[in-house]
Amino acid sequence: MTTIRLPSFRAPLNAVVIGASGGIGSAFAALLGTCDDVGGLLLCARSNRVPGAIHVDLADEPSIAMAAETARSRLGEIDLVIIATGMLHEGESVRPEKSLRALSAASLERSFAVNAIGPALVAKHFLPLLPRDRKAVFAALSARVGSIADNQVGGWYAYRAAKAALNQLVRTAAIELARKHPLAVCVTLHPGTVDTALSRPFQGGVRPEQLQSPAMAARHLLTVVDGLDATGTGRLYAWDGSVIPF
Ligand SMILES: NC(=O)c1ccc[n+]([C@@H]2O[C@H](COP(=O)([O-])OP(=O)(O)OC[C@H]3O[C@@H](n4cnc5c(N)ncnc54)[C@H](OP(=O)(O)O)[C@@H]3O)[C@@H](O)[C@H]2O)c1
Repeated sequence: MTTIRLPSFRAPLNAVVIGASGGIGSAFAALLGTCDDVGGLLLCARSNRVPGAIHVDLADEPSIAMAAETARSRLGEIDLVIIATGMLHEGESVRPEKSLRALSAASLERSFAVNAIGPALVAKHFLPLLPRDRKAVFAALSARVGSIADNQVGGWYAYRAAKAALNQLVRTAAIELARKHPLAVCVTLHPGTVDTALSRPFQGGVRPEQLQSPAMAARHLLTVVDGLDATGTGRLYAWDGSVIPF
């Protein structure tokens, strides 16, 4: 694996990855773990599959608050926060809906809890840890299907709506953050179609050249993050650096 550089940050930078057990999250963790510009790296995960990771369940705010406190006490200021969590399907109970008939309050609530409310609570507890005197980035993985303007095919009600809510929450946080952190960047990111457990049941119609490995997606997204400055805060970026309209 070739390493990556993040020259737009002041080195050595401190980074936190929330969701380090996931397909893309573990690729972020691996890439940041070999990056010479990274001084401190804190991994957070719900499952206990990641050695040394701090336990974070997005449905449990005290676990998020505890992780932020651990980050502050171990690393001090945090230059880069990446939220790589997300949920499209969960067991038999939550499946992406093809029609309104499949809609349920329980799956809508679950999708909003994981895809929108949890990341917003991460912003609540981690944004105060960003430095005020230099570039810092808070980035949450969203999805192109959360774009209302881009929605031409319908379906996937809960996931689409929760990602749209995430985009709005992060944009609102970006506006508040800019008041005290003028150099900070607060964005959502679309990783492309990536070969992970989340997308695997839905890869049928995906051309092989469209499907990225998690390692490739993490590299693309960190390159986008490195290229951003405060003028680009509050937006949704695709893996190739293009802006996706909300
Ligand atoms: N893969 C794609 O093609 C694709 C496309 C567009 C957008 N995205 C977005 O990219 C992000 C990462 O997805 P992925 O493909 O890497 O999926 P993944 O492999 O299924 O990983 C999902 C991660 O989210 C974590 N998670 C789920 N619920 C959680 C909760 N309540 N508390 C804490 N962590 C929780 C999982 O933890 P556990 O290991 O504990 O389950 C896992 O680390 C998601 O936001 C997804 O919507 C992915």
